[in-house]
Amino acid sequence: MTTIELDFEIKHNDFDRAGSASSGLKNTLKQIGYPPDIIKRIVVSSYEAEMNVVVHASDGHLRAVITPDEVHVTVKDNGPGIENVEMAMKEGYSTAPERIRELGFGAGMGLPNIKKNTDELKVESFVPTGTTVDFIVRRSNG
Ligand SMILES: Nc1ncnc2c1ncn2[C@@H]1O[C@H](COP(=O)(O)OP(=O)(O)OP(=O)(O)O)[C@@H](O)[C@H]1O
Ligand SMILES: [Mg+2]
Repeated sequence: MTTIELDFEIKHNDFDRAGSASSGLKNTLKQIGYPPDIIKRIVVSSYEAEMNVVVHASDGHLRAVITPDEVHVTVKDNGPGIENVEMAMKEGYSTAPERIRELGFGAGMGLPNIKKNTDELKVESFVPTGTTVDFIVRRSNG
């Protein structure tokens, strides 16, 4: 297997297409025979990062580089950025407004969940330019 690169657009507030980038990534990983438990960790993480763009940010992209050994995902948006990343990483911290909570988001568990499911995580954010969530899931911990 050679390197596969994917690039999906993420549309802010588009709840009809929300999650489509993560499903696209999942389909590719299934097709090439990635182990289901690894796929699950990757897709749980990419879904949380994708939904954060849909509910909190602006338009963005999900990019993935898939190799036989690991999957590297970068989710990048165009703002407004996160004021305090350290705080945002804490379980239960959310700024989601009522309208978003009614849709079932806003438990403040997305970023902690990504942390739990990945081998490496970097969250870089600038106000008001935007946020980049970058993570790696390795196929084996060897
Ligand atoms: N891409 C982003 N752009 C701007 N703010 C963000 C972004 N991602 C996260 N945040 C901020 O970090 C907070 C915590 O994010 P996290 O994903 O952990 O929880 P949540 O999205 O509020 O709730 P949940 O993910 O459980 O539905 C958010 O409430 C929001 O304030
Ligand atoms: Mg979230």
